[in-house]
Parts: sequence; C-alpha cells; structure tokens
Amino acid sequence: HAPLRVALVGLGTVGGGVIRLLQTNADLIARRAGCPIQIVAISARDRNKDRGVDLSPFEWVDDMTTLPGREDIDVVVELIGGADGPALTLARQCLSAGKPFVTANKAMLAHHGLDLAALAEKAGIALKYEAAVAGGIPVIKGMREGAAANEISRVYGILNGTCNYILTTMEKEGRGFDDVLKEAQELGFAEADPSFDIDGVDAAHKLTILASLAFGTELDFDNVAVTGIRHVLAEDIAEAAALGYRIRLVGMAENGPEGLFQRVHPMLVPLDHPLAHVDGSLNAVVAEGNFVGRLFFQGRGAGDGPTASAVVADLIDVARDEYGDAFAMPVAALAQQPPADAGAR
Ligand code: NDP
Ligand code: HSE
Repeated sequence: HAPLRVALVGLGTVGGGVIRLLQTNADLIARRAGCPIQIVAISARDRNKDRGVDLSPFEWVDDMTTLPGREDIDVVVELIGGADGPALTLARQCLSAGKPFVTANKAMLAHHGLDLAALAEKAGIALKYEAAVAGGIPVIKGMREGAAANEISRVYGILNGTCNYILTTMEKEGRGFDDVLKEAQELGFAEADPSFDIDGVDAAHKLTILASLAFGTELDFDNVAVTGIRHVLAEDIAEAAALGYRIRLVGMAENGPEGLFQRVHPMLVPLDHPLAHVDGSLNAVVAEGNFVGRLFFQGRGAGDGPTASAVVADLIDVARDEYGDAFAMPVAALAQQPPADAGAR
C-alpha cells in the first residue's frame, strides 16, 4: 500500500526516539501497519541543533501551521509539550482540518482533551495518545479496548518515571534528591520544567486521563488533590523501610457514590504489594474491573525508546485506519456521567 506520510513536530527526546524506531524497525512496522510509515516533514525550534540523527531525508518546516492543510501529509505527530501554546494550536488546526493527530502531550489532553476529542469525532478521524500515560505501557489501549466491557471501581498506580527514579535511587544508592533529579533529566525522563514531575502535576495529568477512560467521566484535572515528592527526605525513606514500607508517588482514582475522587501523593506501600517492587523509571497501573478482576500493567514509563514505542503504535493504528471515540465513548456521553459538582472529597 502507499506509505503513511508523517509530519513530526518536536525533535527532542521522544521525537528523536520516533525517528530511530521508524528507521530500525521499518520492515516489521510496514508489515504490521500494512504500509510503510515514512516521516516526510519535521519541525522544531532550532533548525541547526545536532540531534544525533540524520535529518537530511526530511523536509524542514519552519511554520508548523502550514502542516494541517498539506495534502501530502496523512498524519501529524506532536511532541512539543505544553498544555497550551503551539501544541494546542496545532492540535486544533489539525483536527479541524480532518488531519489525524498523534500526541504524547498529557498536559494538553488533561486540560483540553474533550474539546480535541469533539473535533476528532466531528471530523471522523483519529486522535491518538498512547504515549501520554505511562510511557511505553499500552495502558490507553488496555483501558480503552481491553477493559472496555468492565465496570472499573478503582484505577491507581505509579505514573511518573522521574519521581520513581528519584525515590528508588535515593533508597537503593543513598544519593541526594537533587543529584538524582539531575540524572533523571540527563536520561530524558523529566519534563522540560521538572517541577511538573516532582510536584506531582505530571502524574495528575495522567491520572485525569486514566480516570476518564476508566469511569467514562469528563476529564477533571482541577479536582485532583496533588502533593509531590519535593519534600521527601532520605530519612523518610529510611524510616519507611524500617517499618516495612516503600515510599512511592501514587495516583489513585475512584468513582464512588460521592463522585469522582482523584489524588496524587507519596504513599507508604507495603512490601507485599506489587507497587513496592516497581523500581527506577518503571511505571505501573492497576485497574480493578468487575469481570476481569485486577489488571496490573508494568513497564518503562519514560525515556526515548519506550515513549517512541507508544507513539509508533498509534501511527500503526492510524495506518490501519483504526479510530474511534478518543475517550472510549462519545464526548456527549461523557458529559452525561456523574453530576458536574461531584468534585473532590
Ligand atoms: P523535549 O524537551 O526533549 O523536546 C521538545 C521538542 O519540542 C524539541 O525538539 C523542541 O525544539 C520542540 N519545541 C519546543 N517548543 C517549540 C515551539 N514553540 N515550536 C516548535 N518546536 C518546539 O521533550 P520530550 O521529547 O521529552 O517530550 C515531548 C512530549 O512528550 C511532551 O509532551 C512530554 O510531556 C511528552 N512525553 C515525554 C516523555 C519522556 O520520557 N521524555 C514520556 C511521555 C511523554 P528544539 O529541540 O529545537 O528546542
Ligand atoms: N516526565 C515524565 C515522567 C515523562 O517522568 O514520567 C513520561 O510521561
């Protein structure tokens, strides 16, 4: 079949990973997708930056707002980041113009996901975001498709690789917070502004998306109660260990009679719980369904390779022409779910 022609916007940690993955696994991806997946156009801020990959086969585009209208591009991949600004403008333009859109941008989805889903629904095109939650773990597909028939009572997990890397490295190696954070940044795990990681905001973005998928409710970032790990001390970690616990930054969402309850904070996890053994940049998501029972997803939650794996899985879906309600049901149906004032408990 004719190639799927991709415009890639954002050439940092994840964008570079996507280029390398599409090159390395080109043949098997083409077999699985039913056609080659080819990057045609690229864009970022700095044209002259050395990105460690050969960009010469691709057309450099200075003005990304020209991409949605181009007929020689089948899908746009946004890997810039930021809830608003150029990422949101590009998303709106693409979806309004009927251009399938793939993103890893959980901040944008947590704040504007339903508006974007409504545009995608109207145009009958794909809005894909597997990489936005838990990096390489196929948890969006798992929740949206695999667990779709279940009533989910609770979804929770370790949703930020940077925080988990900091907490577990401090515990195992006795190193200081700032030193390990710097390493997590160098490894490409952290957000452009790492306060989003260590203050729990990134995990809250992801929890917002997961909760919407799990419960069929509207995205409700404003009602997530958030505490990060900025004030966790080596002494806290040692004290927890002495008592038989490990400290993990956990996001948890429940949908009970009092409404949706979403929170992110450091928790004491007993050693006999699987989350206590999720180390380094790994993430894990637990979902409890009324027919399937407990689902446990685990894998690498940050970094170029795992995140690129999720982005390219979405591109393969687009090539297969698989799309549907981005948040597992039409936006109009989401709005009919629990009372708008359910709020945080
Ligand atoms: P980086 O900071 O490494 O890369 C961002 C890229 O976007 C850079 O190439 C940058 O250009 C480009 N960019 C930034 N602002 C603009 C702008 N105004 N106009 C054009 N291009 C711009 O980020 P990551 O690759 O780490 O993350 C990308 C997205 O993926 C974010 O939404 C992030 O939250 C998400 N994500 C990241 C994961 C990770 O492990 N890193 C995991 C899962 C999701 P230039 O290089 O020229 O400066
Ligand atoms: N900064 C994020 C993290 C990237 O550390 O988990 C993956 O979403």
